[in-house]
Amino acid sequence: MNMSTTIESVDDANSRAVQSHVLSPRFYTTDFAAMDRIDVSAVREEWDAVMQEYEGDNNHDHFQRDAEFAQELAQSQAQWTPELKQELLDFFVSSLTSEFSGCILYNEIRKNVNNPDIKQLMTFMARDESRHAGFINQSLRDFNLGIDLGQLKRTKAYTYFKPKYIMYATYLSEKIGYARYITIYRQLERHPELRFHPIFRWFERWCNDEYRHGESFALIMRANPHLLSGLNLLWIRFFLLAVYATMYVRDHRRPILHHAMGLDSTQYDYKVFQITNDITRQVFPIALDIDHPAFRAGLSHLVTIAEAFDQAKAKKGLWARVQQGWHGARAAVQFARLFVLPVKSQTLNAKTILRPTW
Ligand SMILES: [Fe+2]
Ligand SMILES: [Fe+2]
Repeated sequence: MNMSTTIESVDDANSRAVQSHVLSPRFYTTDFAAMDRIDVSAVREEWDAVMQEYEGDNNHDHFQRDAEFAQELAQSQAQWTPELKQELLDFFVSSLTSEFSGCILYNEIRKNVNNPDIKQLMTFMARDESRHAGFINQSLRDFNLGIDLGQLKRTKAYTYFKPKYIMYATYLSEKIGYARYITIYRQLERHPELRFHPIFRWFERWCNDEYRHGESFALIMRANPHLLSGLNLLWIRFFLLAVYATMYVRDHRRPILHHAMGLDSTQYDYKVFQITNDITRQVFPIALDIDHPAFRAGLSHLVTIAEAFDQAKAKKGLWARVQQGWHGARAAVQFARLFVLPVKSQTLNAKTILRPTW
């Protein structure tokens, strides 16, 4: 793994979570007054149906370990290589940070709005994300690497996003989160012998929560169609690319993790992109052309640049800093090239809600 540091101690785990670089999951804050003004009346019927699902809370008892958990963990752990263990820990820390990021954002919105629809939605989503974060943290605590969530909340930097950016970014991260978890779950369902940690058994019901979170943001955007037209199409394109490219580069730093599941990082990522593209038809009038050769070449070029950046970062001195700057600029140019590639137009379904059938 080409991470500059390994996770050996609880301090390493906590400082990895608090890190804010281009690829690490971030914490967000937004304009709460604008959030308060969101109107979902144009999608009332579908909205109420989703709220009822949240209310039903079919995962209320899901995030508890069963009797076999400890035994399975002990058995599989004996087979791990040190590299696999590092990549798994990195996966846990970054997943936990993303889950907790959702938890904080939704909770802050809940506290700062009076709009009953938004308040209710945020209450349900914060509930789910806090369960998710807590469940991953238990798996870090198995190695005495538990993240201090209170401390993380206080010390990690917050990025301000306008509400519309929150909509695009959060919608996408919920849906891509679903696509990632379901792809792993299906793979290990076919190959239970490759399930090297018991937590993967939880992914199916887990990702239905993420899916539902995404549905809620899709409904908000469909109720406010100006978010999905005109110049905003450029923002949608930007967020699609930012989310896809970040995931691609990050995943290519964990090749051993995917390999242990019988997956190849590139194959896995394109499967996830495909599922996400299929889902986003419910809301985005455009999709990235993930099969375009220039798109594929551009993403793998970004991985090469990120590796060169890491190597420069591992060195000390002025020259290493110059090199970092140079690789940063190369990454920006590559991103811009990907941004101007042609995208695919698509017609939205009449109904927003889409059943998760992947
Ligand atoms: Fe979650
Ligand atoms: Fe979520």
